[in-house]
Amino acid sequence: MTGNIKELELNDGLKIPAIGLGTYKLNGRSGAEAIINGISIGYRLIDSAFNYENEGAVGAAVKQCSVPRSELQITSKLPGRHHKYSEALTTIEESLFRAGLDYYDLYLIHWPNPITNLYVEAWQAMIEAKKRGMIRSIGVCNFLPHHLERLERETGVLPSVNQIELHPYFNQTELLKWNAEHGIVTESWSPLGRANSVLNEKAITNIAKAHNKSVTQVILRWHIQRGALPIPKAASIEHLRENFEIFDFSLNEDEMIAINQLTRSDGRLFNMDPDVYEEF
Ligand SMILES: NC(=O)c1ccc[n+]([C@@H]2O[C@H](COP(=O)([O-])OP(=O)(O)OC[C@H]3O[C@@H](n4cnc5c(N)ncnc54)[C@H](OP(=O)(O)O)[C@@H]3O)[C@@H](O)[C@H]2O)c1
Repeated sequence: MTGNIKELELNDGLKIPAIGLGTYKLNGRSGAEAIINGISIGYRLIDSAFNYENEGAVGAAVKQCSVPRSELQITSKLPGRHHKYSEALTTIEESLFRAGLDYYDLYLIHWPNPITNLYVEAWQAMIEAKKRGMIRSIGVCNFLPHHLERLERETGVLPSVNQIELHPYFNQTELLKWNAEHGIVTESWSPLGRANSVLNEKAITNIAKAHNKSVTQVILRWHIQRGALPIPKAASIEHLRENFEIFDFSLNEDEMIAINQLTRSDGRLFNMDPDVYEEF
């Protein structure tokens, strides 16, 4: 238990808090300070990635904050250019060196890159890295059911987490359900739609007024009640605090439905369809 924050249990027994801190664009000294502020407020699960070039900032925050390493859960991600088995293992080692950590709590394959088609090899390396104690729990991002089924078929191991694009304009009802049915926790990336026009949607501003909460608090509460784990990024202490204060109210069924109805088939932020998009 992290304070009064509920935890979710992963399929390998690791428990993680119901909300995490996104860190894309939190780099260097100011990035590390924002992460330290987040930890002081209560965030314990920190998301990062080899490709964000901020594992150093995350590691500095871990060292300089007032919370012991053992109470923090640090995530990073394997980039697409290093899916080959031996390269993947070396990259995970390099990721640890960059952060100055002995282990990651959670490590994720960043994208399946199905055209390059090396994600099963990358997954085998992740399984090995877990055996070697470099990672506590292994998961993926942006995987569709057929990618996940292939991992299970060829390695016998399903990921603990699938981190996917999920926000009111792209609510991922089917993939969220598929993940849950297979014991995989869904993390929501860009849970606030990267602060786009969703923050001005009347349906949500009305709900926010009714609860005396902010729009971002209502959106993050909607994630939690759907069983998804949001990882909002925030640089300012005001935003960090606001996004964390979502455990003292709940949305009713009509409010959940009203937010769900904002979804649209073209609601992705950057048109990144994991069946065709590749990132290196
Ligand atoms: N696996 C993947 O492929 C993938 C892809 C994208 C992102 N991610 C992860 O998901 C995390 C979150 O996604 P994201 O950074 O794309 O977008 P996001 O969390 O949806 O939105 C971040 C934006 O919202 C603003 N914001 C935060 N709290 C706010 C508040 N209370 N009121 C008003 N504005 C607020 C932030 O501003 P300030 O910073 O100024 O506070 C920032 O501009 C990333 O940081 C990264 O860790 C993963």
